Amino acid sequence: MNIIFENRVAIVTGGGNGLGREYCLALAARGAKVVVNDLGGSVDGSGASGKAAMGVVEEIRSAGGEAIANGADVTDHAQVESMVAKTKELWGRVDILINNAGILRDKTFSKMSHSDFDKVVNVHLFGAVNCTKAVWETMRDQKFGRILMTTSSSGLFGNFGQSNYAAAKAALVGLMNVLHREGAKYDIRINTLAPTAATRMLSGLIPDHVAPIMDPKTIAPGVLYLVSDDAPSKVIMGAGCGAFSVVIISETPGVFLGTDASVDDVAERWCEISSGTGASPLENAGQQTEKFIKLAAEALGVDLAGKAQ
Ligand SMILES: NC(=O)c1ccc[n+]([C@@H]2O[C@H](COP(=O)([O-])OP(=O)(O)OC[C@H]3O[C@@H](n4cnc5c(N)ncnc54)[C@H](O)[C@@H]3O)[C@@H](O)[C@H]2O)c1
Repeated sequence: MNIIFENRVAIVTGGGNGLGREYCLALAARGAKVVVNDLGGSVDGSGASGKAAMGVVEEIRSAGGEAIANGADVTDHAQVESMVAKTKELWGRVDILINNAGILRDKTFSKMSHSDFDKVVNVHLFGAVNCTKAVWETMRDQKFGRILMTTSSSGLFGNFGQSNYAAAKAALVGLMNVLHREGAKYDIRINTLAPTAATRMLSGLIPDHVAPIMDPKTIAPGVLYLVSDDAPSKVIMGAGCGAFSVVIISETPGVFLGTDASVDDVAERWCEISSGTGASPLENAGQQTEKFIKLAAEALGVDLAGKAQ
């Protein structure tokens, strides 16, 4: 298989450093025209500079690829809209959006200020919302779009000191779930990545002897697959050190306790309710309601076609 991105136009937010840089280089190496977006601030989101994005653009151009730098702050929707307008002016379309820009302001919830919470949610969640909204109509008109959200194991599974970050990262999964449905008929496919790699964001947390196997380069193949023409949709991919996985959100089969069940009944049957045996992912929100109605109807002998038996 030889997956190529010839004639594809990609925007990568936070493309000036770490993981985003690798995605830009890898997409350009396979023929994509790349907008390297980066505000160029520090890990906590302070400051700004055009250097990081320009550096990646120069690397791409010197390898014979096509790229432009863009310094839009993803939290500013006017700047984001202008980035998309400039991209279309130059290359006529936007096929791929990788929402990757991110910052950290770690503190325990008790010590976290409202502004640290707002800022982190703003960059990760609203940054992705702004960029996705700015390309959405274009992708609908093209009847083609590939969008990647970046979540984190912190949001999916929890990590001490990251309530702001985890809340924002988990919200992106919800955004993907809905956009997957709304975009399907326009061939807009949306996936989410949970990466782990030795970037400046994890500096001091990864021992020196482990850092080389956690090279951010190792994540790019998974990302390229998730934004390729034949990509799946509504997938949460885990990626690290050259290994790839899929995170599946599933629900246990459920136990009908009665429409007059008490808290004591829930406590007594907790093992059964929470047992993972037979758990399965649901295709959409309505399937949960259908499942509970079916469980109750079976137990109560209600004919779902309308008649009580
Ligand atoms: N490194 C990991 O192990 C890891 C784990 C889970 C999730 N992630 C996520 O992956 C993404 C990339 O992280 P990284 O490790 O490469 O970090 P990084 O700090 O190297 O790169 C993030 C980039 O985003 C840019 N950015 C920040 N705020 C921006 C804004 N408002 N507008 C535009 N650009 C902005 C920064 O300038 C920086 O270049 C982030 O969303 C991060 O949360 C990383």
